Amino acid sequence: MKIFVTGNRGYIGAHLVDVLKKDGHSVTGCDLNLFSGCEWNKIHEPDIQLLKDIRSLTVNDLSGYDCVMHLAAISNDPMGELVKEITYDVNYKGSVHVAETAKKAGVPRFLFASSCSMYGKGESLDLDETSKLNPVSVYAQSKIEAERDISLLADENFSPAFLRNSTAYGYSPMLRIDLVVNNLLACAVTRGDIRIMSDGTPWRPLIHCRDIANAFNAFLNAPMEAIHNKAVNIGANNENFQVKDVADLVQKYVPAAKIVFTGEVGEDPRNYRVKFDLLNKLLPDFKLEYSLSKGMEELHGWFAEKHFNLSDFEGEKYVRLRTLRHRLDLLEKGNV
Ligand SMILES: NC(=O)c1ccc[n+]([C@@H]2O[C@H](COP(=O)([O-])OP(=O)(O)OC[C@H]3O[C@@H](n4cnc5c(N)ncnc54)[C@H](O)[C@@H]3O)[C@@H](O)[C@H]2O)c1
Repeated sequence: MKIFVTGNRGYIGAHLVDVLKKDGHSVTGCDLNLFSGCEWNKIHEPDIQLLKDIRSLTVNDLSGYDCVMHLAAISNDPMGELVKEITYDVNYKGSVHVAETAKKAGVPRFLFASSCSMYGKGESLDLDETSKLNPVSVYAQSKIEAERDISLLADENFSPAFLRNSTAYGYSPMLRIDLVVNNLLACAVTRGDIRIMSDGTPWRPLIHCRDIANAFNAFLNAPMEAIHNKAVNIGANNENFQVKDVADLVQKYVPAAKIVFTGEVGEDPRNYRVKFDLLNKLLPDFKLEYSLSKGMEELHGWFAEKHFNLSDFEGEKYVRLRTLRHRLDLLEKGNV
């Protein structure tokens, strides 16, 4: 099949191109390359690469594809707060634009990278797709509004589905260490401590970034009627963890590291444990390739192999917010 992937040069997109190509698909990537120069390893190139803002995609760009997988976004809470208008414009309006354009171009399937972060401050534990949404960031709000408007486009010729992904972790050639697991492990390896900014009790559903890519592929192969216009949590019931459990596991791989509660954020407003029964029902054959401990062991091995050090940890290359801030500074000074 011919697949159009936006955000293909990001943390998850880099895996997705590889997964799709290994399955024999032809892949076109579209990315603004916001993180060029931040590669940790060589990334998997698509068959065709567009270096373009998703907000200016045209019917011509999207004609002839069997599926659009839309991942491009300002991709976490702190980045989303940096320039709220841009987050809203890219993640909400931009996503709706891509879906509308795909529909006009006659693309039958549209898979959207949504997020469990829309559950935000969970009112109770064990949330499912029918639970009340409680966003605590512009990022989460932008995903809610994008889901809402894109779902209105669904008809017999256009079938969107919304993958509400758990928080990602693990190795990718486009490494990010601004995600909780990667951050705690990288901190332990480079500084010798495991710094928890909350009291460690908040729950998070976690998933390896490769498994998010695998889930997109599984949705591509699923019968259209099974997933038509559905929002589905992506992860596994036994992969919900409290942050302090993650820290304990990090200590298993870096036994000398001490756990430190910094208390910086007081009570973390994001606290959600998520159920994945709908995913198991709709795609019974889909299984995660990674458990948290397998993914952590793999990433720990990569940190050793690549001699990941304190300047990597404290630098801007692997932290999306720092890279973006630096690039915005350059833009303001007219240096790019
Ligand atoms: N990483 C996670 O934990 C996680 C969890 C749930 C959902 N998601 C969603 O999955 C998707 C991918 O996340 P990621 O971790 O790979 O993020 P990422 O920041 O690593 O990658 C995003 C990519 O999108 C590109 N991009 C951003 N704005 C663009 C624009 N206007 N036009 C074209 N390209 C643009 C960037 O250059 C980058 O390569 C995002 O939609 C994110 O919200 C991620």
